[in-house]
Amino acid sequence: GGPKPLAGRTAIVTSGPTHEPIDPVRYIANRSSGRQGHAIAAALAKLGADVTLVSGPVTISDPAGVKTVHVERADEMLEAVVSRLPADIAVMVAAVADWRVATSAGQKIKKKSGEPPPPLVLAENPDILKTVGHHDKRPKLVVGFAAETQDVEKNGRDKLLRKGADLIVANDVSPETGIMGGTRNRVKIISAKGVEEWPDLGKDEVAARLANLIAGRLAGA
Ligand code: C5P
Repeated sequence: GGPKPLAGRTAIVTSGPTHEPIDPVRYIANRSSGRQGHAIAAALAKLGADVTLVSGPVTISDPAGVKTVHVERADEMLEAVVSRLPADIAVMVAAVADWRVATSAGQKIKKKSGEPPPPLVLAENPDILKTVGHHDKRPKLVVGFAAETQDVEKNGRDKLLRKGADLIVANDVSPETGIMGGTRNRVKIISAKGVEEWPDLGKDEVAARLANLIAGRLAGA
């Protein structure tokens, strides 16, 4: 039931963390649960969009009505997203690891008594949102997130420009907010038009509102 303003539109959504291997049994990760990204994928589908969700490793289930592709590393996530362009809508919600281990070991790194711990040398990961925002096949609407612990609005505005996004959903993920890994979210929507502050809402409600906002923007395009 309900109106389908996104019927005939395609969307790609990223969600969850990425896992960057140190060796075959260890990895670097973050506290993203995938709840917000998965909810957005479901909300876009509910409005009629044909949605592909590219998810990092999460414990929550694949949303109904959405095609879900599972990846682990940032480079796999980038490939999964770019290979699915063109699309009308891209919503990059994943908490992609900024760095990967430069050379992950092919075998489990052994602890040897008397030897110092091994150094972890990091390399920068590709920026998926930035790649999509500046792509030849750039979607009509590109949405990014800005999880910050300070200067949320300023960092959000910077991100809008640098990443080539139309909208940035900015939130404060300081530990005391309980947002990262939690079920609620309090966001600011940053666009060229200015800033809109939304109240504290469940992540499903944030997703529903964002899907409606996206549908409204595309209706005029
Ligand atoms: O720069 P920062 O990581 O704060 O930007 C967050 C936004 O960029 C989110 O939308 C996130 O999904 C996206 N991002 C990405 N690839 C990265 C880093 C961030 O798509 N390597």
